Amino acid sequence: MKTRFTERFQLKYPIVCAPMAMVAGGALAGAVSRAGGLGLIGGGYGDPEWIAQEHANAGGAPVGGGLITWMLEKNPAILDAALTHRPRAFMLSFGDPRPHAAKVKASGAALLCQIQHLGQLDQALEAGAEVIVAQSGEAGGHGMTNRSTLTFVPEVADILAKRSPDTLLLAAGGVADGRGLAAVLAMGADGALVGSRLWASRESLAHENSKAMAVRLTGDDTDRSIVFDILREKDWPPGYTFRALKNKMTERWSGREDELLAVVEEERATYHAAMAAGDYTIGHSTCGQVAGLIRDIPSAAEILEQMGRQAAEVLARLAGPI
Ligand SMILES: Cc1cc2nc3c(=O)[nH]c(=O)nc-3n(C[C@H](O)[C@H](O)[C@H](O)COP(=O)(O)O)c2cc1C
Repeated sequence: MKTRFTERFQLKYPIVCAPMAMVAGGALAGAVSRAGGLGLIGGGYGDPEWIAQEHANAGGAPVGGGLITWMLEKNPAILDAALTHRPRAFMLSFGDPRPHAAKVKASGAALLCQIQHLGQLDQALEAGAEVIVAQSGEAGGHGMTNRSTLTFVPEVADILAKRSPDTLLLAAGGVADGRGLAAVLAMGADGALVGSRLWASRESLAHENSKAMAVRLTGDDTDRSIVFDILREKDWPPGYTFRALKNKMTERWSGREDELLAVVEEERATYHAAMAAGDYTIGHSTCGQVAGLIRDIPSAAEILEQMGRQAAEVLARLAGPI
């Protein structure tokens, strides 16, 4: 498949593996890059030893990385540490990228900035992002609820075409197969940033019980809330919520976060015990609405190959006479 993104980054598929915190390690990011996509190691909140180990685990494949941007205000040194591994590309998400952009660019990495609404686009362009990642509310993990792929992606595509035509666009949120990839290309994206579908791959560091749960559930079975952020003591800026598979914990507390705070110590202990035991009926499984499209746990290379082949078939079929 050829798009502006595959041409610029010399890839076989216009597919980026999202820098999923503590899930996209070197094995997954390396497998995606070796298969012809671009794998990003998910540095998350920033543990330099973990990041170093996972770059080693990539086995020399040309991978990139990513960090949660608002964390950098508290700990800017983590970005320097991450960049010493000479990532091919680096994604900043969930915060103002401008204070950190110069460091990323000086390292030689291409800067990707993930945005959740149009209000963040100016900051990303001022930061000099080479790639804008438009993330919509279907997505697994942190994000915002207010935009969906079908309107957000073409709207950002139109703005970029006018204001910054050389800036590339990736769609994030809801792409799990070739139909989704073809759809976002049709909407003006140059490719897709894929999270949940690659979370449910053999190489991902997610727990097997957690992946197995996604295979059983549907797209109705996810929920956005701050329940797990409260339990994990992650102090996210206002507006961000976290999409995960519904379970006993979200059923009990989603929408009742104030009441959760009243008994938080007890619930934290329950949550941490469940995570340690691999019990995802209580612990969190970070997966988006594509849960309903996840029916197996293949290798990352198989996912890319199937996605690329199906997208090419869909596009060829649609290009025929109507
Ligand atoms: C398990 C998981 C962890 C994630 N962690 C991060 C993260 O640390 N930083 C980030 O920028 N995005 C993170 N995301 C969001 C992705 O960047 C991306 O926007 C999202 O996965 C795309 O939607 P999808 O899950 O439907 O593919 C995560 C997503 C998942 C599923």
